[in-house]
Amino acid sequence: MDQEKIMKTATRKISRLRSLGIVTVGAATLVAGITAYKKQDQLFRTFIMPTVRLLPAETSHQLAVLACKYRLCPVSQYQDDPNLHTPFFGRMLSNPIGIAAGFDKNAEAVDGLQDLGFGFIEVGTVTPAAQEGNPRPRVFRLNEDKAIINRYGFNSEGHQAVLQRLQRLRSKEDFNGVVGVNLGRNKSTMSPIADYVQGVRVFGPVADYLVINVSSPNTKGLRDMQSKDKLRELLEQVNDTRSNLEKNKNVPVFLKLSPDLSEDDMKDVVWVIKRKKSSVDGLIVSNTTVSRDNIVAIKMTEEAGGLSGPPLKARSTEMIAQMYHLTDGKVPIIGVGGVASGYDAYEKIEAGASYVQLYTALVYDGPGLVEDIKEELSKLITELGHNNVADVVGTKNKFYLPKK
Ligand SMILES: Cc1cc2nc3c(=O)[nH]c(=O)nc-3n(C[C@H](O)[C@H](O)[C@H](O)COP(=O)(O)O)c2cc1C
Repeated sequence: MDQEKIMKTATRKISRLRSLGIVTVGAATLVAGITAYKKQDQLFRTFIMPTVRLLPAETSHQLAVLACKYRLCPVSQYQDDPNLHTPFFGRMLSNPIGIAAGFDKNAEAVDGLQDLGFGFIEVGTVTPAAQEGNPRPRVFRLNEDKAIINRYGFNSEGHQAVLQRLQRLRSKEDFNGVVGVNLGRNKSTMSPIADYVQGVRVFGPVADYLVINVSSPNTKGLRDMQSKDKLRELLEQVNDTRSNLEKNKNVPVFLKLSPDLSEDDMKDVVWVIKRKKSSVDGLIVSNTTVSRDNIVAIKMTEEAGGLSGPPLKARSTEMIAQMYHLTDGKVPIIGVGGVASGYDAYEKIEAGASYVQLYTALVYDGPGLVEDIKEELSKLITELGHNNVADVVGTKNKFYLPKK
């Protein structure tokens, strides 16, 4: 009897050990698999990105955000060259390449985006109350142009959900990333200015910079807020609110502009931001365009929304040059629109941008693009005889302002 008991206990123990072994080997294989897979940039370029692109555009976007959220994307092994280090309002960015607004609208993917090697991350656009945005489909790939048309219309989980995520991020001891929050307004708001003011109040204390986004083409009436009187009133209230913050009173405020502004519109914007009460700390040039120039995929020109990627590149660079000139090179510019290589980034910087962002190229070229851009940019800076990014800013602006 006793012997039977001993045999049973021994069998149970062996079976438990065997299960434990299977679980351990399985877990180890999984970890090894993920680690190997995370280092396979080539796998992304040749297999994962083309496969993901077979899915509807919004589904691939959601998957990409999830991959970053759960840190399944490759972790960049590239060490930023010191010539990429760039000062940013009292901080030092490891490199000047950021992810533009619209990819991580709800601040879910910040850690994963850092893993890819971005020097700074902009989340949003965030609206005060949660809202659905426009009906689907609302994102379209223009494969021949490597471009995108989107009319998301500020789909957002709202201020509180995003705030909680950012607070959690800030409480992590090992997190030291630079995170900007792009602010918008609700579609049905009665008081657009109040929406932005609320954004400043809510996110001022947790953001490294704020963006006043009055340039998305997918919310009716939004871009009218770039007009002289409306912009002045908006920015005065934004600045008032910021100066009353208890924490982080000096959080830099950027204004994001549409590439569809005329030269007179741009002059009006500059008139407003040169006034102390309605000044801004920086500009983002530019948002998507409603123009359909430079498109090969003509079938898609009928789709309403903002166009991004290569067809926007020249216009956004031209506008950077114009704004750099109109502001006497005194207002830092984040240059964005069609950047897909280190050379494109260099062009934006030469035109007057101090920092560069991208979004659309990531959709076509995958996460390894960030390293490639940094490597090429760093090489160009050295080969063309400059010490760092700051030395290049505005050097090929046709209105070049020599540094004193
Ligand atoms: C799908 C998609 C969604 C976007 N959503 C936003 C947004 O919510 N807020 C914003 O300011 N810009 C948004 N943008 C514009 C980008 O931030 C950027 O200004 C523009 O796409 C130009 O850069 P790119 O050519 O590198 O994409 C979005 C762009 C795309 C493609």
